[in-house]
Amino acid sequence: MKESLLNKFESGNARVGVIGLGYVGLPLAVEMAQKGFEVYGIDVSTEKMDILSKGKSYVMDISDEQVEAIIGKNFFPGDDFSVLSKLDAVSICVPTPLAKTKEPDVSYINAVVEKLVQYMTEGTLVVLESTTYPGTTDELIKAVIEEQTSFRAGEDFFLCFSPERVDPGNQQFNTKNTPKVLGGATKPCLELGVALYSSFLENIVPVSSTSVAEMVKLLENTFRSVNIGLVNELTMMCDRMGINAWEVIDAAATKPFGYMPFYPGPGIGGHCIPLDPAYLSWKAKMFNFYNRFIELASDVNGNMPRYALNQAADILNDNEKSIKGSKIFILGMAYKKNIDDLRESPALEIYRLLEDKGAHVYYHDPFVSSFKNGDEVVYSVELNDQNLDDADLVVIATDHTTVDYDYVISRSKLIYDTRNVTKNYKDSKGKVTLLGGQQNFDLPTNVEENSSVNPK
Ligand SMILES: NC(=O)c1ccc[n+]([C@@H]2O[C@H](COP(=O)([O-])OP(=O)(O)OC[C@H]3O[C@@H](n4cnc5c(N)ncnc54)[C@H](O)[C@@H]3O)[C@@H](O)[C@H]2O)c1
Repeated sequence: MKESLLNKFESGNARVGVIGLGYVGLPLAVEMAQKGFEVYGIDVSTEKMDILSKGKSYVMDISDEQVEAIIGKNFFPGDDFSVLSKLDAVSICVPTPLAKTKEPDVSYINAVVEKLVQYMTEGTLVVLESTTYPGTTDELIKAVIEEQTSFRAGEDFFLCFSPERVDPGNQQFNTKNTPKVLGGATKPCLELGVALYSSFLENIVPVSSTSVAEMVKLLENTFRSVNIGLVNELTMMCDRMGINAWEVIDAAATKPFGYMPFYPGPGIGGHCIPLDPAYLSWKAKMFNFYNRFIELASDVNGNMPRYALNQAADILNDNEKSIKGSKIFILGMAYKKNIDDLRESPALEIYRLLEDKGAHVYYHDPFVSSFKNGDEVVYSVELNDQNLDDADLVVIATDHTTVDYDYVISRSKLIYDTRNVTKNYKDSKGKVTLLGGQQNFDLPTNVEENSSVNPK
């Protein structure tokens, strides 16, 4: 069985599936189809399946042309789980959010496992890609399949965990060229996982267990969360001390070893950094282990939107205004620049906090045309004279590179810049307030020319 699967994977003649065709699953399915596999996508969102069937994409990193080239030829998306019975391999890319209580919500994985038990046939390779706590593949997939079927992992079916590292919007690293960590439940599982993934991805990093692979992903994202927490704390300290945190970070980044820069902001967002560390600390508590770094970083990062709210209030106060009744124009609603992802975006929280305090809030985002605020749909407004003139305060919450910041600066009355996009603006009138300290005087020209500090 193993040999036959190996042959199919290496020759590109396998039938493979991807469950959950979102930011992670769709690019994976496209890579597999481009390799020549017959790919079946399964997703509960009929809306998304309709878009794909028309040869269109809803994920920014995948173009309509890429979908058009494979749809109906060797890529078959749909919502029918019974196709599982004819697959040689299936990758699971469903969401792993947090419940309101901040505990892992693994219900999406459980729902998929239920379907696997129902439809999977002998000899299938199952690869979990969703980010989750160490032990999930073993406890929620292996144990359940072995309990509810006669299949044994490594003998009758094969099981791996391979964390997805995709960074939406990253022009340099994508699904294909980002090294892929992969751990198997048994040696044959790992061998098959590596055979499949190395047939269409550039670099596989095998590890000795599914738990190691699960922990790798959580280490990576905890590392980011903790370091962002550190610079956010440094930033608040710099605010108090009147030191420009951004300049400090850029200058520190010239050290060629032992330092890598992280940047502050009005909070963290996306489906990964705010959530994944909580998966780890939740699991660790079962071992009576308390992750103080994780909790502290989450506390500092989670409070940044409120810190931004307070700074916005101070700016208005200094100009004899209150938040209540002021018109506040938020620039950028996505959680980071040049993407359309709103999940956990700090700009959303700032929007709601300002609204709760009685401000009239409106926003512009070139990538996000609308969002749901409770029952109400809020639409992006134009970035034009009228909307800038109306604003008592413009809050730059996301630094999309397509926005004309010179125009924003010249037209606005007051600006609160949480992303340092105004770094080259000479602010003689106190128009701009920067998160992370004040803008200092310019370096003399001859010094600037010799500067080795790279701009962000
Ligand atoms: N977005 C990222 O940048 C990123 C990066 C690395 C890892 N991850 C991880 O990958 C996983 C998926 O994240 P995503 O960003 O692709 O999420 P997503 O919300 O974009 O996509 C998930 C898809 O799964 C579908 N789905 C939900 N329940 C399903 C079910 N029972 N059966 C079939 N389909 C179902 C949804 O309709 C959706 O299309 C998560 O665990 C996430 O933490 C995400």
